Amino acid sequence: MTRRLVTSALPYANGDIHLGHLVEHLATDFWARFQKMRGHQCLTICADDTHGAPIMVAARKKGIAPEELIARTLQQHTKDFVDFQIHYDHYSTTHSETNRALCSHFYKKLKEGGHIFKRAVDQHYCETDKIFLPDRFVKGTCPRCGVENQYGDSCEACSAVYHSTELREPRCSICDSTPVVRASEQFFVKLEDFRPFLSEWVPQHTSAAVANKLQEWLSEELKDWCFTRDAPYFGFELPDAKGKYYYVWFDAPIGYVSSTKEWCEQRGLNFKDFWQNPEIEIHHNIGKDIVYFHTLFWPAMLKSAGFSTPTSIWVHGMLTVNGEKLSKSKGTFINARTYLNHLAPEYLRYYLACKLNQGVGDIDFNFEDFVGRVNSDLIGKITNIASRSAQMLHKQLEGRLAHLPARGEGAELIKKAHHESEGIAQLYEERNFAKALLSIRSLADLANKYFDDHKPWILVKEDKEKTREILTVALNLFRIVAVYLAPILPRYAEKVAQLFKEEPYTWESSQHAVENGELNPFSHLLSRLDPKAVEAIVEETKELQQKTS
Ligand code: 2FM
Ligand code: ZN
Repeated sequence: MTRRLVTSALPYANGDIHLGHLVEHLATDFWARFQKMRGHQCLTICADDTHGAPIMVAARKKGIAPEELIARTLQQHTKDFVDFQIHYDHYSTTHSETNRALCSHFYKKLKEGGHIFKRAVDQHYCETDKIFLPDRFVKGTCPRCGVENQYGDSCEACSAVYHSTELREPRCSICDSTPVVRASEQFFVKLEDFRPFLSEWVPQHTSAAVANKLQEWLSEELKDWCFTRDAPYFGFELPDAKGKYYYVWFDAPIGYVSSTKEWCEQRGLNFKDFWQNPEIEIHHNIGKDIVYFHTLFWPAMLKSAGFSTPTSIWVHGMLTVNGEKLSKSKGTFINARTYLNHLAPEYLRYYLACKLNQGVGDIDFNFEDFVGRVNSDLIGKITNIASRSAQMLHKQLEGRLAHLPARGEGAELIKKAHHESEGIAQLYEERNFAKALLSIRSLADLANKYFDDHKPWILVKEDKEKTREILTVALNLFRIVAVYLAPILPRYAEKVAQLFKEEPYTWESSQHAVENGELNPFSHLLSRLDPKAVEAIVEETKELQQKTS
């Protein structure tokens, strides 16, 4: 048994879970469920990322305290994940005393190591809103190309990267007034101190594509990292500097550790058994937009604090819808809840699995392809084997399975399906869910061909026992397919196990056969996907957007 800990990036607590998040949380879930089915320990850890100026501003807008906002969001996020059948062993919040204490520990260790210094920084301050404005809250004219309405960190027109005080004609994006520039002292980590460690560590713990990008960053001097912000700020105050708060990106990844610690404490375990134990593998699943934080700052922080560094950082691409970025006005910025109001989670779980491999390329959710693949593959190819065979067995053959044939075509097919187990497992292990599904679908193709070739609907009029055998073979093939699909479609697989009067499946269940007994009554597995539901999702998304803008 291996022992693993896997995380998804912590979602911000000022927004809903949307389809973009789901790509990542589903991939984590598929992989962890697969590991558990194989008998490994695989702890799934996540939390809400609750701090920062945007959360403070969002709470102000709603007229509530940030604590109230993050508590509401935590409930919604947790429910969205549960309803999508995404299981976290522990889903916490970064706004916890456990996280605060761990932040102090990381801070103390960086300080003891001599990696921290202070320097005065010029920042925009809005005298109306009475806050230092984060880069994303300042808009103005790009100092390089002169295009208006650009954010305080970079220009979308010419890609220039600058300090927000360099923007011409800056404005506060909350109240539109002109901010003033104020100098204030901030704390920095000398990231350059970690160069020898990072240069060696990074290429060994990410994919080649990501390591190449990192080599680019490492070929220049690593910029000192400013990890504090001034009051008012929603976050944790530094233990020894009044009015200075940890920047949200300091305490967010520490949330991976504090969430694990809470899980351990609830069970009388020591979290060091996970975070200071070379036998534990730690995997972070993240999007390509946050690679810098996870492959430079985070390993440096862990190293300095004496914790294990991650075994691997998996990086996935971004979700597009119909080939374009998610768009609020086009109704493609779809919330998890809006989707669930119209469709079963299984469809999206299946579809996104068809698209997920280990690459960093963008993942496209194409509506037509979605409806087509679900209806032709998941329903037409896979689910229909069960509904046709089980219903016929019940209606015409008392619901009783035959003995499986010892030799011949049926026996060979079942042997082949058993045989695929390790190949498919390897693909799950590598997180190549798309390819695993290709193999699984080919088994379903064989089962359908077998069923159609033998025409049980005709055969049953002449030879009931032979028909029983044909249906038993088809149902066993279907059952094996359902075991292989279980990490992706856990509830579906549970229903299949009930049909065969079995316990929930482990990977090993794929090697068994079910024969000579009675089936439970066939309960409906999944219906066809109505394309109108997709239109309704888009409409509801547009309406929601109008209400909130
Ligand atoms: O990019 C984001 O959505 C961040 N909230 C991710 C944080 S991941 C980790 F570092 F906590
Ligand atoms: Zn303002």
